[in-house]
Amino acid sequence: MFDQVKKVQKELDKAIVTTTTELETFRIKFISKKSLITGLFKLFKTVPSDQKKAFGEALNELKKEANRKFQFLAAHLEASTAFSSESPDVLLPSIPFQIGGLHPINIVKNRMIEIFERQGFNVSEGPEMEDDWHNFTALNFPENHPAREMQDTYFLEKYPDKLLRTHTSTVQIRLMEHGKPPFRSIMPGRVYRNEAISARAHCFFHQVEGLYIDRNVGFKDLKNSIYHFSREFFGKETEIRFRPSYFPFTEPSAEVDISCFICKKKGCKICKNSGWVEIGGSGMVDPNVLKNCGIDSKEFSGFAFGMGIERIAMLKYEIDDIRLFSENDVRFLRQFNGL
Ligand code: PHE
Repeated sequence: MFDQVKKVQKELDKAIVTTTTELETFRIKFISKKSLITGLFKLFKTVPSDQKKAFGEALNELKKEANRKFQFLAAHLEASTAFSSESPDVLLPSIPFQIGGLHPINIVKNRMIEIFERQGFNVSEGPEMEDDWHNFTALNFPENHPAREMQDTYFLEKYPDKLLRTHTSTVQIRLMEHGKPPFRSIMPGRVYRNEAISARAHCFFHQVEGLYIDRNVGFKDLKNSIYHFSREFFGKETEIRFRPSYFPFTEPSAEVDISCFICKKKGCKICKNSGWVEIGGSGMVDPNVLKNCGIDSKEFSGFAFGMGIERIAMLKYEIDDIRLFSENDVRFLRQFNGL
């Protein structure tokens, strides 16, 4: 008798359950009315009376243990199936790691640098907080020039003789007064102007300045440089055009236009039906500027140009609002990832 109890006990100890079907098999085998344990209870009447007590106790203990194990297995199975249905499939590829992208201003700036570097230009930088000499006086601005007035220039309250540079031409001066010609440099950077903010204008934006000073540098070299840049940046069919203009620091001066690469000169919204779009200002460095920097204008000459990075980016990517560049809206910025 007791051997049979021990045998069932052993089977109970060994029983493992990993699915609900196996749990049901366990229930039938050890708990149900047809279970092995119920079968053992039926043997009770055949047990000699002096052993009935011990046999009854052993059976009751076995029954309790079977019930305990059943409860435990059922709870365990429920917990593990709940976990496995909620936990991720470990074989799925992981969520891609989101890396940031370059800001469109930097994309355009880097591309411009790359193109001009191949023409032999190096990169120079200067401070954003400047003085009157570098921003105006050395650049041959007459004393009463309207660009010096308060509405264009941010002067600093704390340092009355300092201002936020209104253009990157300041770096031309810094370069020339600290070095010796030849110079062949491009100067990217941020500039500030006290302008009403709109879709077309902002109180800060970015420019790339270019300066080439050497013996016998002429207007043809300026044209060549701009022509090469425009074709590289906007496409091989791009034409350029120089319109006479005025800057205090260049003589002669010219605005630079490129043929509209959107409509191929047929006329569209971007070029306002003119077939041409402006990309910057340029000219031959005024001898007064060279003199202000201690350079002999009889021996050396050169050209300078300045282009707005936002303007070029807006043309290239057909962006119609300059404010988008400084609003940090990822829906805008994300579109330039991978460019
Ligand atoms: N500094 C001028 C501007 O900001 C652009 C320019 C640069 C013009 C160099 C001529 C030569 O408008």
